Amino acid sequence: MKNTFGQSLAVTVFGESHGEMIGTVIDGIAPGIPVDTENIKRRLALRRPSGKISTSRREEDEFSIVSGVYQGYTTGTPVCILIPNKNTKSSDYSELADKPRPGHADYTATCKYHGFQDPRGGGHFSGRITAPIVAAAALIEPALRARGIFVATHISSLYGISDREFSDYTLDASILSEKTFPVLSQESEERMRSAIESAAEEGDSVGGILESVIYGLPSGLGDPYFDSLESTISHAVFSVPGIKGVEFGSGFGFASLKGSAANDAIMTDGERIYTSTNHNGGINGGISNGMPVILRAAVKPTPSIFKQQNTVSLEKMENTTLTISGRHDPAIIHRARAVIDATLILAVADALTVRYGTDYLGVNDNNN
Ligand SMILES: Cc1cc2nc3c(=O)[nH]c(=O)nc-3n(C[C@H](O)[C@H](O)[C@H](O)COP(=O)(O)O)c2cc1C
Repeated sequence: MKNTFGQSLAVTVFGESHGEMIGTVIDGIAPGIPVDTENIKRRLALRRPSGKISTSRREEDEFSIVSGVYQGYTTGTPVCILIPNKNTKSSDYSELADKPRPGHADYTATCKYHGFQDPRGGGHFSGRITAPIVAAAALIEPALRARGIFVATHISSLYGISDREFSDYTLDASILSEKTFPVLSQESEERMRSAIESAAEEGDSVGGILESVIYGLPSGLGDPYFDSLESTISHAVFSVPGIKGVEFGSGFGFASLKGSAANDAIMTDGERIYTSTNHNGGINGGISNGMPVILRAAVKPTPSIFKQQNTVSLEKMENTTLTISGRHDPAIIHRARAVIDATLILAVADALTVRYGTDYLGVNDNNN
């Protein structure tokens, strides 16, 4: 299922950047989830471009939910959400079918689809296709909240500029939920914004690292091997265009620790089990241990830059150069935050329903 994620709660995305519509079908969803359209609008707004640090393409993302919802609740049958594309300028892309952009998916799309793909605006590979992912997750999110589970993501570093670390997850999540540029320290935010602006002035782009927490997960989620919780989460996160690395807890930092420093001591207060540190990022043996799940995702610099680059003419089979026009983000990281949050919601919702069944996210003692 190439465009579908999830074993139990399955989310399919469809559409092209400059086609008539993009959208999602959510299948295996619990009946009885209260549908909060304001939350869907809020989450889509966090993904939407804004100001000098984003593409000038402006889409209102006016969505319609055309099935699976009745009288404000999910019915349990497939939910379909449609989002029309309105602000398209396809002439900018006419050259790219022949001259693929370095770092983008134009060449690999040709390898896979033999030239039949829609190249306009990056077609199905465009960051635009992440809007339905955000909408699907925002519809499911209240069901996780009712179980005391939330996700939050900040830009932990951008082009070498660091944010402060998470301190109080609940407080930090509420700070981040209001911010289109998700950075916890005001000073770091200003430095990051100006790094993006200077890259944009040079016709260049920058990337960075997004750090996320999944808070409130019960212990015991995930499987030991191929469907380990790390595998399920990173499967979802790597689906986001532009993500090139994922690590959990201390991640690659484990390479410079001794076992005595890397192990998280197991403790109890007489009622619950927890660990004194969280180097393992809330997962051992592929299974959640009840601590917050911590992960980081590396976001590459936007491939479409305005400097001249080397590529080939596929038609002539000769080396050539390309100078890209069109509208592009000088950094995608701040917009990708909403998409990473969304993929974490989808991954966790799927892992929960695999373990506890579809109805776990619907009618239950907490929300009905
Ligand atoms: C929200 C979002 C917006 C994006 N905007 C752009 C863009 O304006 N220009 C661009 O070249 N790539 C953009 N991308 C990244 C490309 O879609 C991505 O790099 C490309 O499909 C190749 O995939 P890969 O980087 O995962 O290999 C965006 C990604 C996301 C998540």
